[in-house]
Amino acid sequence: MAHPELAAVILAAGQGTRMKSALHKVLHPVGGKALVSHLLDTVATLKPAKTVLVVGDNAEQLTSAIQGVDFAVQDKQLGTGHAVQCAMPALDGFDGDILVLYGDVPFVAADVMQSMLDTMRAAANCGLVVLGFRANDPAAYGRLIVGADGSLERIVEYKDASAAERAVNFCNSGIMLISGGHAATWLKALSCDNAAGEYYLTDLVAIARAAGAKVAHVETEEPDLIGVNSRSELAAAEAAFQTRARENAMAGGVTLVAPETVFFSHDTELASDVTIEPNVVFGPGVKVETGVTIKAFSHLEGAIVRRGASIGPFARLRPAADIGEGAKIGNFVEIKKSRLAAGVKVSHLSYIGDTTIGKDANIGAGTITCNYDGFLKYNTHIGAGAFIGSNSSLVAPVNIGDGAIVGAGSVMTKDVADDALGVSRAKQHDIKGYAAKFRAKKQAEKNASKSKKEG
Ligand code: UD1
Ligand code: MG
Repeated sequence: MAHPELAAVILAAGQGTRMKSALHKVLHPVGGKALVSHLLDTVATLKPAKTVLVVGDNAEQLTSAIQGVDFAVQDKQLGTGHAVQCAMPALDGFDGDILVLYGDVPFVAADVMQSMLDTMRAAANCGLVVLGFRANDPAAYGRLIVGADGSLERIVEYKDASAAERAVNFCNSGIMLISGGHAATWLKALSCDNAAGEYYLTDLVAIARAAGAKVAHVETEEPDLIGVNSRSELAAAEAAFQTRARENAMAGGVTLVAPETVFFSHDTELASDVTIEPNVVFGPGVKVETGVTIKAFSHLEGAIVRRGASIGPFARLRPAADIGEGAKIGNFVEIKKSRLAAGVKVSHLSYIGDTTIGKDANIGAGTITCNYDGFLKYNTHIGAGAFIGSNSSLVAPVNIGDGAIVGAGSVMTKDVADDALGVSRAKQHDIKGYAAKFRAKKQAEKNASKSKKEG
């Protein structure tokens, strides 16, 4: 549903010092996608009128990596309230509601955001909706103090809280919806007269109430609010993402023999009746059609695997690998930027790069396409029904015709015509009895040297 009356403001000006990273905290990936992009993609489903990203530390990293948002700069990190104040010029002339989110809290679901909007619409004169959660370990979160009438009275920051307030486990996620038209005035009323000396966004609760507006809250589950401040929290966010991706895959009809060992990317597309054996990793951009089996220890990235194909074990599909229907890619095979038609077999120990292979061709063990001369890359074409003997090197550019055979151990530098045999290797020649004579001679030499030593 489109929300022309809504703007999203995403705070990402904090320093993220605990990550100990040159990369901005919110650009660290989960499932191969930046944390903040997970959030931006969710926000985009609500179709707000505007999305403003508040940047400070390492701002240029965000402005160059992120598209489709307005940027607001907060030079000094004077608190969450100040960060939202900094976003206001970017919202000049907009008087709709403002949803404040944190760039490092990436997995807030669209339906949670929607329920905050619904809550605001449902109550007359509702000025704020705060997203809260019951924390297992409330630690330093701000506490939500709810009055006897069920409305939110105030938010107390941990640093400012009394012992009784610290005992409350209903916590502030930091995510807040501010009613249109009031935001500018209320934000101006914030002060930094508190234990941290910061402009707390949370003080809007008291300010809104004093202005006679209602303050509501919505509750969500703690796992929706996973935040990332350290590498260990990044790993926890990745784990949560992977758990969800595995559940989604299985719910979509995919068999995961050992789900906890399979790793997905944010954009992995798997059809139903795909089977995935243990220890398979999907990089970005993989699409797998129905009936495919991906055997143990395979790594796929930027590849499409068509109906009924079989991949692995120990196979590597690199970007722009297109594996045809019913094709078979076996162990220790690497395929890059190559299109394999239906029924092609590359069963053992091969590198295929910058290549097209016609229907039902059989590529023998150890075949290598030599696609690179140290300066440029060249293409190989192998025709339909061709048979490439084991341990062959196809030196690109080269074209092996339909139905052609390449003799095992060949180094092909020239094209082979349709249905021809191409061989390029020394002719075999046998010397009768040579091996027996050789052994006898060598044994005699060995015996002589032994008796010399002993003597
Ligand atoms: C804030 C809330 C607290 C809540 C907690 C949830 C306030 C005053 N406190 O705590 O009630 O329980 O979040 O995690 O709002 N940021 C800026 N500019 C700043 C300060 C922060 O952009 O000047 C951004 C950070 O990058 C981060 C988010 O705001 O994404 C939260 O900042 P953080 O310092 O973690 O908030 P707290 O004050 O700890
Ligand atoms: Mg914090």
